[in-house]
Amino acid sequence: MSAPTSKDELHRNLDPLHAENVFSDTETRIAIAGHPIHAMLVAFPIALTMCTFGADLSYWWTGDAFWPRVALWAIGAAFLMGLLAGITGTVELLIVPGIRARPPSWTHFVIAVALLSMLGANFGYRLTGYETAVLPFGVLLSALCAGFTALTGWHGGKLVFDYRLGAGDSKS
Ligand code: HEM
Repeated sequence: MSAPTSKDELHRNLDPLHAENVFSDTETRIAIAGHPIHAMLVAFPIALTMCTFGADLSYWWTGDAFWPRVALWAIGAAFLMGLLAGITGTVELLIVPGIRARPPSWTHFVIAVALLSMLGANFGYRLTGYETAVLPFGVLLSALCAGFTALTGWHGGKLVFDYRLGAGDSKS
């Protein structure tokens, strides 16, 4: 066997997944004019979850009953938009061969599903009494959700910016 001639060929020999034809098929399918819908939707759960944490801290600081109502609506909308983002991401994961073939896509899926269950728990807990729910467990749940949102979003960004998933032909 002749020695690999290029860096790409060397990588192909080291990583059997790379040798599969599907590996570079990473272009988004759930998209509007080539723009991934998942990327458009994820901004909502990310921002709304951070708002929920902010509203809980504001209630803790001021005692103003306005903030628990803000938190209830924010976490409800975060959960709903997170589910929609999760559905688009899951369909993308399952139908795009080059996304499905990469382990980091599945890591993102697992982290994101854990996040969605936390958002659901945070919302559901507040339905038992949105003002009394805030201290201490509501704010603790919101802190956990905010941390996990940061982790999920950062990892999703890795899929796009490091692996070029959803963006077109991938070289990594
Ligand atoms: C539940 C299942 C989920 C799956 C299977 C999934 C899958 C994916 C995939 C395949 C990508 C690459 C881009 C694309 O093809 O659209 C991506 C990107 C991303 N995901 Fe997810 N995702 C899920 C949920 C979430 C959730 C709940 C969040 C945030 C709260 C999130 C945050 C992100 C971010 C920030 C990006 C990068 C978007 C960009 O900058 O273009 N994902 N995800």
